[in-house]
Amino acid sequence: MAGVKILVGSVYGNAQHAAQMAEALLVKEGIDCEVCDDPQLSVVTDADALLVITSTTGQGDIPPNLEMLFLDLKAQFPLLNRKPFAVVGLGDSSYGGTYCAAGKQWFELLTELQGDALAELLEVDAMECFEPEKPVVEFVDGIKHGLV
Ligand SMILES: Cc1cc2nc3c(=O)[nH]c(=O)nc-3n(C[C@H](O)[C@H](O)[C@H](O)COP(=O)(O)O)c2cc1C
Repeated sequence: MAGVKILVGSVYGNAQHAAQMAEALLVKEGIDCEVCDDPQLSVVTDADALLVITSTTGQGDIPPNLEMLFLDLKAQFPLLNRKPFAVVGLGDSSYGGTYCAAGKQWFELLTELQGDALAELLEVDAMECFEPEKPVVEFVDGIKHGLV
């Protein structure tokens, strides 16, 4: 079994920290999972389930460490055959129209690739939440049974 892969996109470490907390929760539950911060396309195709936890950078951009994978998936378009997935977007609502744009782009792409969304996109707003790992862990706790 390839297990659950947590694809993390992070510039300053918030999403990375939240991903590590989510991983710790899943491991505690006995779920095989791994945080991937430089994933290749095969990580997506081989995983049993996907959890994307990504901040937004620039003007609505995907962090550089997840950008290449995003472009590869768009170009190669490997269908996910109802693979379970969930996406968390960390952002800042003061950015207006680009709020959580990276998370939105990932949710849309995995849906287009015919993954099976376990929940709507979780948006975590840095304007309101100073400990993003808390809502992220709560969210993952709520969907964990769908990941296996
Ligand atoms: C240079 C810069 C650009 C950003 N651009 C956006 C943006 O376009 N949309 C958004 O929702 N948040 C934006 N943010 C906010 C980050 O996504 C948010 O602070 C997030 O918690 C950072 O997580 P990270 O430490 O994992 O990168 C930006 C932050 C910085 C520093």
